[in-house]
Amino acid sequence: MSTKARIVFCPPDSVLIKHGHIIDPSHNIDFVGDILVIDGKVETTGKSVRASSDTLIPVVDASGLIVCPGFIDLHCHLREPGFEDKETIATGARAAAAGGFTTVCCMPNTNPPIDSRSVVNLILEKAAQSGGARVLPIGCVSKGRKGEELAEMAELAEAGVVAFSDDGSPVSRATLMRHALEYSRSFGLPVMNHCEDLELSRGGVMNEGRISILLGLRGSPAAAEESMVARDIALLRLTGGRLHLAHISTRGSVELIRQAKEHGLPVTAEATPHHLTLTEDRVAGHRQNSRTALDSNAYDTNAKVSPPLRTSEDVEALIDGVRTGVIDAIATDHAPHATVDKTGEFDSAALGISGLETALASLLGLVRQDRLDVNTLILRLTSGPARVLGASAAGSAALKPGATADITVFDPDREWTVLPEALLSKGKNTPLTGQKMKGKVMLTLVGGRVVYKDEAVRPESPDPRK
Ligand code: DOR
Repeated sequence: MSTKARIVFCPPDSVLIKHGHIIDPSHNIDFVGDILVIDGKVETTGKSVRASSDTLIPVVDASGLIVCPGFIDLHCHLREPGFEDKETIATGARAAAAGGFTTVCCMPNTNPPIDSRSVVNLILEKAAQSGGARVLPIGCVSKGRKGEELAEMAELAEAGVVAFSDDGSPVSRATLMRHALEYSRSFGLPVMNHCEDLELSRGGVMNEGRISILLGLRGSPAAAEESMVARDIALLRLTGGRLHLAHISTRGSVELIRQAKEHGLPVTAEATPHHLTLTEDRVAGHRQNSRTALDSNAYDTNAKVSPPLRTSEDVEALIDGVRTGVIDAIATDHAPHATVDKTGEFDSAALGISGLETALASLLGLVRQDRLDVNTLILRLTSGPARVLGASAAGSAALKPGATADITVFDPDREWTVLPEALLSKGKNTPLTGQKMKGKVMLTLVGGRVVYKDEAVRPESPDPRK
């Protein structure tokens, strides 16, 4: 027996994930094997990887699980400052981690809005303490989100915003949008517009069509979105810059974006899990397309969202857009609300769906129905959004050696039921309440640090003497 003492290192933010199905479609990585993370970075991947004998690193058995780059959400609402009863940066960042997101971009419809350096700093400070996903703030296009004067875009860019948006509201004035695109060009940051012609949508609380007539609710037509998508594409042609179209929901919008891309315009777009998986029938309480009369769940305010849930033809076109790359990214538009904001009349209920923790399972439903393959799904949740963000997300959407270890591990087959009280988000407003889901995030790492772990995951520590 040797009498020499061995020195064993326990490097921080390190883990060995073994026997997982490792998928990083942007780097053509797709095999069953191991991934070693040391000091927050991917050290190596391979069929069988061992940590060096002088290090003590927790080992996670990922047999039967998918290991991929961490998801990046281009669009969520974290409500702080101002609406902490709905969500805080801490609760939102932890809910994001539970949903497999390692980076989320938060929209500026807070109070005060994100239109000054001080609010950007506040968000970055709160985010750093959250212990969840990374949080990247999006700055306002207009001062106070009033749609009148441009915000101090240079100051916001310098403070660290990753894009500009007045989301929740459109940039209605064409000249303001034109100037925002012109300015954003010099910072290399996208302008993310919420496309909605407020004249056309006025009073609309759901999609205009068969179901709105059935329910006697005022509808907002697809044209309210499409007319502004067309306008923004025309402005982009005029100005250059980078246009990103938020929560696209109609077949006509997908077609306009497809044509713009064919003409080489630098436009990108996102669609949400709810617009990709649910139709307006949900507002009538139907779980599937149906021509029958009202269900007992009719007027479900949790299905009230902007833009509204649309028709099955729109859903098909969106899925096709995700498949073909016309839609670059899937973004949650996580819009948490307090229960009281969603209680009462459909007409007066708040708009939005709490989506960070149900996104993956909803989308895996499309994979099981053979409407989307899992590699494309991962692409649109990782490198797709990373490309929209450019430098802000550099290095965090890859499983290559040297990359930042932002990693999501999920079980595509694990079953669970959506119980609002079990969600980490303060927003319990989901139309999926009580629904059985398949597919669950098991482990989320941000820079190699565990920010979420399902209770079924038990990292083992190898015996250092072996
Ligand atoms: O449904 C929505 N809710 N759509 C938006 O654009 C804004 C969001 C919110 O802030 O609640």
